[in-house]
Amino acid sequence: MRIGIPAETRAGEKRVATVPEIVEKLIKLGFNVAVEAGAGEAANFSDEAYRAAGAEIVVGAAKIWAESDIVFKVTVASSAEVEVMREGITLIGFIWPAQNPELMQQLAAKKVTVLAIDCLPRQLSRAQKMDALTSQAGVAGYRAVIEAANVFGRFFNGQITAAGKVPPAKVFIAGAGVAGLAAIGAAAGLGAIVRANDTRAEVADQVKSLGGEFVKVEYEEEGGGGGGYAKVMSEGFLQAQREMYAKQAREVDIIITTALIPGRPAPMLITADMVKSMKPGSVIVDMAGERGGNCELTEAGLVVVKHGVTIVGYTDLNSRLARQSSTLYSTNLFRLIEELCKTRDGMINVNMEDDAIRGLTVIKDGEITWPAPPLKMPAPKPAAVAKPAPAAQGHGGGGKPVSAGKTAAIFAVAAVLFLLIGAYAPAAFLGHFTVFVLACFVGYMVVWNVTPALHTPLMSVTNAISSIIAIGALVQIAPPLKEGLDRPDVWICALAVAGIALTAVNMFGGFAVTRRMLAMFRK
Ligand code: NAI
Repeated sequence: MRIGIPAETRAGEKRVATVPEIVEKLIKLGFNVAVEAGAGEAANFSDEAYRAAGAEIVVGAAKIWAESDIVFKVTVASSAEVEVMREGITLIGFIWPAQNPELMQQLAAKKVTVLAIDCLPRQLSRAQKMDALTSQAGVAGYRAVIEAANVFGRFFNGQITAAGKVPPAKVFIAGAGVAGLAAIGAAAGLGAIVRANDTRAEVADQVKSLGGEFVKVEYEEEGGGGGGYAKVMSEGFLQAQREMYAKQAREVDIIITTALIPGRPAPMLITADMVKSMKPGSVIVDMAGERGGNCELTEAGLVVVKHGVTIVGYTDLNSRLARQSSTLYSTNLFRLIEELCKTRDGMINVNMEDDAIRGLTVIKDGEITWPAPPLKMPAPKPAAVAKPAPAAQGHGGGGKPVSAGKTAAIFAVAAVLFLLIGAYAPAAFLGHFTVFVLACFVGYMVVWNVTPALHTPLMSVTNAISSIIAIGALVQIAPPLKEGLDRPDVWICALAVAGIALTAVNMFGGFAVTRRMLAMFRK
């Protein structure tokens, strides 16, 4: 089949749906690829690079739409594009069917099959590699920080220089979804003090792991609406949240807002009064400009200065990092094509029995199949009732603290059992039994006192240490210590050498893995 890549037509759009590196992979899967001349120019991919990767360069979008079997797009197809589209093709790209009912009718009339990448069921772990919403939001979150840094008049990191002391910038991120988490990572990486808030309490740990501080709203209400998305909060919660945001606005230098509830206008979080209370020279980057904005004073697509605060409302953050966005997006589409072309023969099969494919197929051969039936996911476990933290310290493994009296009783019973075994068991058994009990005790104490997060590196290092069995193999191949003793059998030597080689892999590999894992916990 022939895959066509037209240039994007939306004003200011710089992304392209496929990059040369992915063209090569598509050709290996058995497809022909045609790219419109100049399609990748704005994202710094030349026609020459596409040609070198094996694509055919075609002049004019009409030819792409007329001659392709599959068309990859980034932005929603325009009416003009649908008009020149050949009947029966497969279109893959962003569609947003709920917002574009007329386009859906137009596409259905063309008897095409449409895979809307924005309708991918993100809850399926198998779908993550195709999740373009995530890859694009990650880039946009990073870019939002860069835009903030661009208009902010100071360093992000604190510095002590001969010319004076510079305090670190304080950044507050509203909404810690994909874009928010990327923004936290980028701002912390630049050295700022980062705080973040989200209605979903489950993201607090993720915020911390990226170097941010999670600021809680003092109001008990869980904001998770299922599938990693938020729900609309009660008025009581929103009031408490506004108070907390007002306090943050007075304290911080930069606010980046990314709050979103799917299918709804963006929640209004930063009021005009909060903007007024910010220090002069502060910056707000409102990522939700296209959905009405999280800040009352945002003007979508523009940078405005109000009450001495610069408010950035760009809606094209991905285009501002077009090469990176295009590369990630085209990888997402390639992973999707791999799922559609399991036979690797350049033909696709839109399998409606596959949950992921069913979810994103919004039109099949001219028939509107959107919305897909809800996924049958295993019911979530009921939330555990919050318990007070255990008083005992140092117990990484959690669990109930055991009272001193109980511990003494356990030890007394164990001592009596030992005495009985010692009195009646044979001497040889007693030696082995003592080693066994001590090993259990030491193992238990080691594992129990290590934080659960470090259990995996602990296992890999224990695994490496288990390679001490190498000593046994070394003893086997060692030359006899005294004259007159037999040399070991050649087979025993060979097996011992193989044993040493294998256990060396375990040993060095185990330590290398432990090192890498521990490096992830170091800052
Ligand atoms: P997401 O759904 O992953 O994250 C949104 C987060 O906001 C969720 O964690 C949710 O719990 C939180 N949230 C919802 N209501 C809230 C409230 N009242 N207070 C605090 N947190 C709240 O969405 P994603 O992918 O991270 O996108 C974030 C925003 O960025 C969206 O508005 C999206 O349209 C926009 N975006 C803008 C781009 C641009 O160029 N300006 C490019 C890409 C995305």
